[in-house]
Amino acid sequence: MSDILQHIDAGVMTLTFNRVDKKNSITRDMYTALANGMEQAATDGAVRVVVIQGHETIFSAGNDIADFLNQPPSTQDSPVFRFLRAIATIEKPVLAAVAGPAVGIGTTLLFHCDLVYAGDNAAFSMPFVNLGLCPEAASSLLAPRMFGYHRAAEALLLGEPFFAEAALEVGLVNRVVPPTEVNAYAQAQAKKLAAKPLSSLVETKRLMKGSQQDEVLAKMAEEGRSFGRMLREPAAREAFSAFMEKRKPDFSKV
Ligand code: COA
Repeated sequence: MSDILQHIDAGVMTLTFNRVDKKNSITRDMYTALANGMEQAATDGAVRVVVIQGHETIFSAGNDIADFLNQPPSTQDSPVFRFLRAIATIEKPVLAAVAGPAVGIGTTLLFHCDLVYAGDNAAFSMPFVNLGLCPEAASSLLAPRMFGYHRAAEALLLGEPFFAEAALEVGLVNRVVPPTEVNAYAQAQAKKLAAKPLSSLVETKRLMKGSQQDEVLAKMAEEGRSFGRMLREPAAREAFSAFMEKRKPDFSKV
């Protein structure tokens, strides 16, 4: 079984994180599959809407930390950046169904979705600072814009989780439902969209988001350069080693 399941039904492409034993953490191969899926969805006439979903207990623990240690993304063509550009630029609607933890890119990818549904067990976090890193996916631009600066600063500087009701309040999610129902709810909403005229959906999304696209891509590229450098620096190496060794990181020397 693949770690990313791809399925098309009635105009809806569903991409499912399928690596539950590792908390749906995302490897390089999984980013490639996600990027391929998004790029196919952008051009395939059989796809009108995309849904990204996980399991009722876990959306995604973010980037695979062993991959961060062993094969960190090195260029803007790396699979993670390909995926991020694809999700930031796709013209068709993208929905997400989030239950359980959504860590790092598990949360930041949601800034690029059009509709987000959450299980009442959802826990969102962007712990980049705690890993010796900096924000990615243009979250340093989009989190302050969506949440307001102080709430974004709390989420990005402290990196502590916030939960479904708080995510609803700041506008990151549209609706909170029981975790066992979230994937089905997102699918039902996606089917509603898929029955509408695609040209109107695309034009409406373009009118809402088009004017910030260049700014978003520029911020992603800027973050990507810092992130790529910081991945190789002592603070991040200590954080990743500590995670792999199941101990607390010691940042006293970095
Ligand atoms: N990368 C690689 N492996 C990961 C992972 C990640 N991001 N997140 C979890 N795993 C693995 C664990 O190493 C563990 O593997 P093992 O069973 O071989 O020991 C397994 O998934 C289960 O994880 P565990 O931490 O025991 O689950 P939990 O339910 O106690 O906690 C999380 C779930 C998501 C809160 C926790 O795993 C976590 O914080 N993960 C790291 C998140 C992170 O920092 N991501 C990077 C963001 S940039």
